[in-house]
Amino acid sequence: MKKLCVIGNPIEHSLSPKIHNIWIKQNKLDFIYEKKLLEKEDLQKIIKELKVDNLFGCNVTVPFKQNIIEYVDELSAVSLKTNSVNTLYKSGSKIIGHNTDVMGFQKSLEDLKFNFKNKSVFLIGAGGVSPSIIEALNNLGVGKIAVTNRSEEKLKKLSDLYENLEIIDWEKIKDADVYINATSVGLNKNDRLNLNLSGIKNKLFYDVIYNPEKTNFLKEAEKNNNRIANGKMMFLYQAQASFKIWTGVEPVITEEVIKTLND
Ligand code: ATR
Repeated sequence: MKKLCVIGNPIEHSLSPKIHNIWIKQNKLDFIYEKKLLEKEDLQKIIKELKVDNLFGCNVTVPFKQNIIEYVDELSAVSLKTNSVNTLYKSGSKIIGHNTDVMGFQKSLEDLKFNFKNKSVFLIGAGGVSPSIIEALNNLGVGKIAVTNRSEEKLKKLSDLYENLEIIDWEKIKDADVYINATSVGLNKNDRLNLNLSGIKNKLFYDVIYNPEKTNFLKEAEKNNNRIANGKMMFLYQAQASFKIWTGVEPVITEEVIKTLND
């Protein structure tokens, strides 16, 4: 039996094992997908496990998407650009670090049937997921991307990766066609960003968070007649792309799979 896993810290709430194990069963594959709570010091061990075939593939989640980079043998082009790895696999004897978050986010945007070409975006948050979001938005030909973040450190790193960003001071709001929450604010039901977005109407609001299904960011946006989307499809599409890399099978995003995220 081939072993897959997701590594992160915390990892308890990851829904990746559920999703991947449904797909393994649906496709009658001889795989198992587990979760592993890791410390930074354990990252090298995971690479070794992949090298000696104790592990077949691995997803990487918060907070290791950058930390893992120094241990892989090669980065895919998209990982290199985003400085972010969420998928590990072996090619020959090399361990490759790849990023399926970009494709996941991009596909979820395409589903919205919203024309992103030359649209302006206000991105809230400069954490681990933000480079993947910017990469996908650039692929779709958006116009200006303005970014804000509570503290400066991550903003600086992000603007080192992407030159065309407009940096907005925290608590200031920029007029845009699309507003994206890429912070972790909202993971707890009562979380609320200390930003005043109440005057914005008839735009698109996207929250990368999918659990809870509707964060306060989305609830308030909806009240103001904005169109809303959460990160559910992004999550599923990144998982689908990783699964295909490891098994060669493109799994189907069935109702059962979608329902797993809502339970
Ligand atoms: P990582 O980079 O390790 O993946 P993350 O959890 O993805 O981190 O990023 C969390 C994001 O949410 C960051 O942009 C963080 O802002 P800071 O850089 O200032 O930490 C943001 N964030 C977390 N809690 C926040 C809060 N209470 N208000 C505003 N932003 C917050």
